[in-house]
Amino acid sequence: MNRTDIPVVDLLENIFMRRKATDYGDEPISMSQHMLQTARLAERANADNTTIVAALLHDIGHYANEFPHCENNGTDNDSHELIGAHVIEQWFPEVVTDCIRYHVQAKRFLCSTEKNYYDSLSQACKASFLSQGGLMNSVEILNFRKISTL
Ligand SMILES: [Fe+2]
Repeated sequence: MNRTDIPVVDLLENIFMRRKATDYGDEPISMSQHMLQTARLAERANADNTTIVAALLHDIGHYANEFPHCENNGTDNDSHELIGAHVIEQWFPEVVTDCIRYHVQAKRFLCSTEKNYYDSLSQACKASFLSQGGLMNSVEILNFRKISTL
């Protein structure tokens, strides 16, 4: 991992301010608003601060090209969760990067195990669902249970 000396809050503020209008699929909100909205929902659900930070940064991989130490400049949806965990791991504890790393798997798991979860997703989230692997099979469900608290 290549480290950068840029203070993380300055870097994140800069990204959120400059990229605040970046589209989030066909949603009426931007990508930055989506991440803020997710953090707000975590806060309202009385999540701990670590979870709120993870929610705030869960899609930071879409801004991978903003991180000088990131060798992957792709900003498409493929692997954005892995790239996001990678670009911030030098500043945040593993519990935060794991939330980011596994948020797509968590969506797939919840859609596969909770009857109405898929219907509760936004259109952009539904649109990305199939390209992210769709429903989990029984082996994937078992494996995900082993690494999560869901
Ligand atoms: Fe995401």
